[in-house]
Amino acid sequence: MLSKKPKNVILVGSGKGGVGKTFLACMTALALARKHPEELVALLDLDVEGPNVLSMIGIERLSRFIQEPLLECKTVDGSLKWLPFVQQNHDNLEVFSIKPYLDFALSGNGSALDRGKVWRELDIRQAVEHLFGSRGSAVAWSRPPVYYVMDTPPGVGVVMKSVLDSARARMLPKLRMMVVSTPKKPSIDKCRPFLGTLASVREIEVVGVVANMVIEAGRPAAPVRKMAEDYGHKFLGSIPETLEIERALDRGEIPMDYAGVVDVVL
Ligand SMILES: Nc1ncnc2c1ncn2[C@@H]1O[C@H](COP(=O)(O)OP(=O)(O)O)[C@@H](O)[C@H]1O
Ligand SMILES: [Mg+2]
Repeated sequence: MLSKKPKNVILVGSGKGGVGKTFLACMTALALARKHPEELVALLDLDVEGPNVLSMIGIERLSRFIQEPLLECKTVDGSLKWLPFVQQNHDNLEVFSIKPYLDFALSGNGSALDRGKVWRELDIRQAVEHLFGSRGSAVAWSRPPVYYVMDTPPGVGVVMKSVLDSARARMLPKLRMMVVSTPKKPSIDKCRPFLGTLASVREIEVVGVVANMVIEAGRPAAPVRKMAEDYGHKFLGSIPETLEIERALDRGEIPMDYAGVVDVVL
């Protein structure tokens, strides 16, 4: 049961996909796990559109999970739950992804796995409620998570609304969101209206905006900084675009050299 309330629920969001939300979410979860070794950090991949937390944080390398995406277990009270994935180097970081959950658990036999099934809004709402809702999580976290980090799909869609509903039902403290954008025009053009919408969502406090994929010589962070200022938010710093970062992420390793940008939520 999720009786103990988490101290901090951190969402990572953006108006656009492919800008580094997952990178930032994984970095935040790792930084929290390092800073609070006694507390459990739960990293939830809620990006139904492009879930990539498991591969980026190195969990898909563990072949057991590729063959067996979810493992069921029985808890002491007899209810069936799903075991979270464990990041091997951090025993206080547990990870769960909505995508295999939708594909495997809700479809009953795993037949929809990786076949690009289009999930109904209702299924997604139900999955978020299962993972995070008022009746206790369907995930058998080893202990009640003190910190949640949630990687969300781009924009304010059904996932975000479901998280808000679940948060209201559990009367959680304010949800804190880090917004990430690249300095490219397509990203700025989608993040501005996203920040505009967030301004009217009482339950979410935007803690700041991170610029990712910055190239000092050619693609400086200025447009992201300006956007943050225009909406009255803090600019949290920038992460360069480098081949080293790209290759590390492809290998399932999270470079922590720029983790200073997430200090605000630690
Ligand atoms: N700072 C960076 N430098 C180089 N490549 C990056 C950087 N940030 C992200 N990437 C690349 O972009 C891809 C998408 O990042 P991701 O965090 O999955 O974005 P999102 O979750 O917003 O879709 C990564 O797999 C990686 O290849
Ligand atoms: Mg992603």
